[in-house]
Amino acid sequence: MELLKRTTTCGALGKADIGKTVILNGWVHRKRDHGGISFINLRDRYGITQVVVDTAGETGADQELAALTGELRNEYCIAVEGLVRPRPPSMVNPEMATGEIEVAAQKLLILNRSEVLPFQIDEESDAKEETRLKYRYLDLRSGGMQRRIRLRSEVCFAVREWMTSQGFYEIETPTFIRSTPEGARDYLVPSRLYPGKFYALPQSPQLYKQILMAAGFDKYFQIARCYRDEDARGDRQPEFTQIDIEMSFVSREDVLAVTEGLLGYVFKKTLNRELPPRFTRLTFEEALERYGTDKPDVRFDMPLRDFGPYAAEGGFQAFKDALAAGEAAKAAAAARGITQRGGGVKALVVPGELMGRAGKGPYSRKQIEELEAQAKIYRAKGLAWMKAAGTDDAPVLEGGISKFFGDGSPGGALTRKILSGLEAKPGDLILLTADADRRIANIALGAVRSKLGRDLGLLDPRRFEFVWILDFPLFEFNEEENRWEAAHHMFSYPQEQYHAVLEQDPGAVKGDLYDLVLNGFEAASGSIRIHDPELQNRVFTVVGLNPEEAEQKFGFLTGAFKYGAPPHGGIAPGLDRLVMLMAGETSIKEVIAFPKNSFAVSPMDDSPGEVDQKQLDELHLAVVRPPEKKP
Ligand code: AMO
Repeated sequence: MELLKRTTTCGALGKADIGKTVILNGWVHRKRDHGGISFINLRDRYGITQVVVDTAGETGADQELAALTGELRNEYCIAVEGLVRPRPPSMVNPEMATGEIEVAAQKLLILNRSEVLPFQIDEESDAKEETRLKYRYLDLRSGGMQRRIRLRSEVCFAVREWMTSQGFYEIETPTFIRSTPEGARDYLVPSRLYPGKFYALPQSPQLYKQILMAAGFDKYFQIARCYRDEDARGDRQPEFTQIDIEMSFVSREDVLAVTEGLLGYVFKKTLNRELPPRFTRLTFEEALERYGTDKPDVRFDMPLRDFGPYAAEGGFQAFKDALAAGEAAKAAAAARGITQRGGGVKALVVPGELMGRAGKGPYSRKQIEELEAQAKIYRAKGLAWMKAAGTDDAPVLEGGISKFFGDGSPGGALTRKILSGLEAKPGDLILLTADADRRIANIALGAVRSKLGRDLGLLDPRRFEFVWILDFPLFEFNEEENRWEAAHHMFSYPQEQYHAVLEQDPGAVKGDLYDLVLNGFEAASGSIRIHDPELQNRVFTVVGLNPEEAEQKFGFLTGAFKYGAPPHGGIAPGLDRLVMLMAGETSIKEVIAFPKNSFAVSPMDDSPGEVDQKQLDELHLAVVRPPEKKP
């Protein structure tokens, strides 16, 4: 077959090329026929070039060209040879990189035809997600997907450049490993050679990177594929990619600095954006108190404030009861040597001007009820409110529970005290949560804050606000299973001052753990690791792994630690989430070439799929189907 091989691309031609004869290869993006003349927008990865075909020509060659042009439909793959010429001034398109020229076709070749498209290939497809994923090869042709996949490639390259320049080795770790609990459910791969045995796909290279440190590699990174059988969400996929990093002889500060350096380089190189040399830091407790979440979106401030002191002064019994119940629980726990947080009453001030700017005016009762519904999802008993009104000189609290906190008349002493303490002014809305468990009061109000951020249009996708969250608790209590579990994973180092109380008061133990949050998403997570086998065994015991189980599951790791393993630590930025945020998107599917849908299915190749009985037999497997669910 004749190919008519391209001499340039569809994004390259400009004024300087006028007069040249060129060959372009690409897809018919659009075709317009204007009696005797046809315009083809020819597209490839690099851009779009306007091709003009004079279809009214009378010579044989012209007629052949006209006939071929008549056949063209969107997404036909074609080759065009022609002369670069200036566009008539009225047709110059300053929006297009090639907008000053057009190519007058002299020869045209259809390389491949296309069936009628299930959706148009536009800048951003408006097709349903399921259709986009089924015809992903078409969806990927859209300008948006092409740009995002390119950004992802550039980010990977920049990561490799920077990490290598800092002396890191890129080392691959296996994808068939032993099943080792790491938080989520494993994907398993049955072994043909060993009936009843399975490999697991790694949830992350965690154990291997630690063993690489024991092996003396000192600085490791890998753009690593990870697999987790957990429910999909906008920022989660069953298989995803981490920029996995581990270093020996380091403290937390070294790991944070490497991460800041890496991201600074990547953002500058790929987006030409300067990041601050050091990112803001909050402890886990500060983040919860101030934003009600360990993933705060700090593109807007609106901090939560402590309403406890005013609750004590005012007359609202529900607040007082919550604080009293919290105190009682705290005292009872303390008697058993266990630290508990106590109760809390928290306030969130919604500035009147932000509501006004978003065109939302003062919030109605119904709008407040919507916010309350959000708070209740996060276990709040309710969302109390009052409005600040009056004037700056004579403010007054109105509506909701205001009668318990105002003295009724404008400018009352308690009203003034509350407004100045909360930094609120007339026109603002005050939202309040109270709970005997302070964390619930914080988290529920934090969820309201996040909703307000979205509703009031405070989330500018062009801004990148990083914040480190430090000093996480090492353990979390799993109420359902009535046991302690690792908040991050079992290999993180408990901070020195808690070593003595590890078993007795696990809830109080802080780990050398850190998360990096970008625009409200957890973009990276890491820790300094335990390198002492004895301390590692103590942590296994707290999370309920007895020594035999621990030996069976993690013996290879503690074994490696017995031979002079160095102190080490690391981190893993999630590549998909990072690129998603860099691209201003809210779903990681937008930056993954072939993602799964929300049901962990790939509509394009229809995986997971059934396999032949022969394959099952070879793997010594029998399928036991669950009983049909009754509708
Ligand atoms: P963690 O489990 O927190 O830590 O994961 C690190 C980062 O990976 C990203 N991430 C995901 N992205 C997409 N889909 C998912 N299902 C998904 N799960 C996690 C997040 C997250 O911050 N081994 C440790 C890291 C370490 O301690 O060094 C680990 O895997 O951005």
